[in-house]
Amino acid sequence: APTREAFRPAMHYASKDTWLNDPNGLIFHDGTYHLYYQNNPFGNVWGNMSWGHATSTDLLDWTEQPVAIACDEVEDIFSGSIVHDAGNTSGFGTEYTSPLVAVYTSAYKGSSQHAGIQAQSLAFSTDGGYTWTKHDGNPVLNRNSPEFRDPKVFRYNSPNEAYWVMVAVEAQDHTVVLYRSHDLKTWDYLSSFGPANATGGVWECPDLFPLPLDGNEDQLKWVLTVNLNPGGPNSGSSGQYFVGHFDGVTFTSETTVTDGMQDPLRLSEYQWLDWGRDYYAAVSFNDAPDGRRLMIAWMNNWQYSSAIPTSPWRSPMSLVREVSLVTVNGQPRLSQVAVWEKEGSPTSTVAYEELDVDGILPLDGGAAVQLIDVRFVPGSAEEFGLIVRGNGAKGTRIGIRPGDGLIHVDRTASGNTAFHESFASMDTAPLQSEDGTYSLRIFVDHCSVEVFAQDGQVTLTELIFPAPDSVSVSAYATGGSATVPSLELTSLA
Ligand code: FRU
Repeated sequence: APTREAFRPAMHYASKDTWLNDPNGLIFHDGTYHLYYQNNPFGNVWGNMSWGHATSTDLLDWTEQPVAIACDEVEDIFSGSIVHDAGNTSGFGTEYTSPLVAVYTSAYKGSSQHAGIQAQSLAFSTDGGYTWTKHDGNPVLNRNSPEFRDPKVFRYNSPNEAYWVMVAVEAQDHTVVLYRSHDLKTWDYLSSFGPANATGGVWECPDLFPLPLDGNEDQLKWVLTVNLNPGGPNSGSSGQYFVGHFDGVTFTSETTVTDGMQDPLRLSEYQWLDWGRDYYAAVSFNDAPDGRRLMIAWMNNWQYSSAIPTSPWRSPMSLVREVSLVTVNGQPRLSQVAVWEKEGSPTSTVAYEELDVDGILPLDGGAAVQLIDVRFVPGSAEEFGLIVRGNGAKGTRIGIRPGDGLIHVDRTASGNTAFHESFASMDTAPLQSEDGTYSLRIFVDHCSVEVFAQDGQVTLTELIFPAPDSVSVSAYATGGSATVPSLELTSLA
């Protein structure tokens, strides 16, 4: 029997036999979720940047589609977004169909009259996102900058008027720039934001969207997300966010810790979309049903991205997350829940109650692909947690040190770590408990763990490359004992 491709994820998107990075053009349209992405159609390392394409109706099963927008001799197609131009403001529609319009970064090559410049361009589709035509007036927004990229466009509705807003970055300046348009073709400068908080790398792939605070529609706030490479809290690629107000022109942050260039000693005080090493270029879907704000990220890190030991494909996407805004210690914070339930798919669950853990406690029910829900009460233990995708005491450790107020993912003994010197790591995040208990939801797949702690207030996403038969799960406690009131292992294969 043919062996399954090593590490190909069961519940995450990866392309068939090519390279991918950032998610692009995320939109829900006519009952289908569209995931476009930075893609090298001809290899499994970065290059020939084009928009690959996949579609799904449940955000879990993805069907790879033909390349949507291809690079040519003049330009690479860098990251960007797609809007449904329902009112045909752009004029790209037909008598019968309003167009989808892609706003992407033209990264101009040596043979172009704009060589070395990054500017924003359009392509449109009148068949629901499957085939695309480049606009003949490209680029539509050019600052003559070599690092102006990653436009995210959305429809802004004020009581008096509606228009298109673009957020993009001047990457080297750690600045998000905002523009306005009525037809997607002519853009007027509105304002800029940054530098602020983390500036240890270029700013890339921004997003701006409203969310009700604590579910209260009268308390609408705006969230500005911006990815950063390198300079994440555990090194390399990562994403941060700011919460504040947007008046149609200017975004004002109320969560800025440091204005201007970062204070390297205060990295852990900034707001991170994820504290793990492999959650980058996160961006949200336009037009998601029921007002949900759904985000997805590239599950990799530019530090070692082209060395990860997968073939012929390289890089998975994260699970899709629904984000909401909640008050934590008086501050507005993002809370994240993974989308994972698939209608009609069989699952089997092994459940435990009231376990006492002192040392390493092997558990039944380990599997290569699974969901683990666990609660801990610290007791006398200095550290407690789970070892997943294990082989006895070796495996990926997800540990909590309540005295230090920290959670970590330790992948130093997770399997193959030798392919790159910076891969093996123990990555930490601050973690508080208000009532003295800790809850973790962990998604395990063939090459990843995604940890949602305290109902998604802190998340850590990490690649791992365990042997296929390393599927054991153990609970552990060191320096004393801990109690596990409940633990459920659900196989998702
Ligand atoms: C982020 C990024 C973007 C750029 C794209 C190129 O990972 O560097 O800024 O548009 O990748 O592939």
